[in-house]
Amino acid sequence: MKTYNIGVIAGDGIGPEVTHEALKVLHAVKHGFDYNFVEYPYSGAHYLKTKELVPDKVIDEWKTLDAILLGAIGHPAVEVGLVERSVILGLRFGLDLYINLRPIKLYAENLCPLKGKTPKDIDIAVVRENTEGEYAQIGGILKKGMPDEVATSTSIYTRVGVERTIRYAFELARSRAKVNNKPGHLTLVDKANAIRPQEIWTRVFAEVGKEYPDIQQDHAYVDAFAMLMIQQPESYDTIVTTNLYGDILTDLGATLQGGIGIAASANLHPGKTSMFEPIHGSAPDIAGQGIACPLAAILAAGMALDYLGEQDAAQRIESSVAHLLASGRIPALDSKSGLNTSQMGDMVVEQIRM
Ligand code: IPM
Ligand code: MG
Repeated sequence: MKTYNIGVIAGDGIGPEVTHEALKVLHAVKHGFDYNFVEYPYSGAHYLKTKELVPDKVIDEWKTLDAILLGAIGHPAVEVGLVERSVILGLRFGLDLYINLRPIKLYAENLCPLKGKTPKDIDIAVVRENTEGEYAQIGGILKKGMPDEVATSTSIYTRVGVERTIRYAFELARSRAKVNNKPGHLTLVDKANAIRPQEIWTRVFAEVGKEYPDIQQDHAYVDAFAMLMIQQPESYDTIVTTNLYGDILTDLGATLQGGIGIAASANLHPGKTSMFEPIHGSAPDIAGQGIACPLAAILAAGMALDYLGEQDAAQRIESSVAHLLASGRIPALDSKSGLNTSQMGDMVVEQIRM
């Protein structure tokens, strides 16, 4: 029997609460395979206690696992971004997880804040480049606090980084076309009119696009795209974009799905150890109350199984969540649902067992 070695970084705030539910669901869905979970303490809370960030040797250890689940990182008493950069960006850069795949999928009409949009209108896959752009950490501050202080931040777009992301997105558009039995469609989102170096995206997209004549190809500037996503989400299928634009657009996308509590993501290096996380943060304002929505963490665990090749199990997780939402048994993603974190997790487990 196949046993998957899975790292678990539950993290801060609501991270451990939602991760607990995701693990319950993973146990419920296993059939013909098993897991060996390895827990890691890295978080803001751990840093406050020990001053420890993620050591390099742990990054090497992570590379030997099959997958990693991350809850959420961020603690109000720790310097802004310090632990996020160590853990989240440490994983993305350290494991070269160059794809951040973020589905924007509406499971029930009542969850969508837009008038008249139904699940068939909102099903977008965002492919966010995940190791370059503004996140490359190239820059700094000179003469801090002085009148002539200078702050710089350099965006990096490498040929290799752009091409592998665009290629992945074309392949994804093609496989989605097959599954959904409709023509493939990929949209490049950038800001190459104002930020000319982003023209590398335009060029590589056109070049790689020649290998995918079956995929309809178009382009939008990110400002217009933010509007179009709201006006006509049904016009889009697969999106490929830069690191920062992908970050911003997927919070907007989460709202289209009903809220940040259901938006899941996969940080991938195809063929190598990859990391799966809800896109929400640690939500210190609601931590410890048992009211966080665990569906994003649960769906992220499903994405991990899909990545590991356990498509049946992955499909059972997603369809159970979809069923609970579409049937109204989970009527909302926030406290209006009248359900707490563990009740929602239990309902998904029960649905899986039916
Ligand atoms: C995300 C988050 C992270 C990001 C932060 C916490 C570093 O917002 O995963 O979307 O900016 O990528
Ligand atoms: Mg974000």
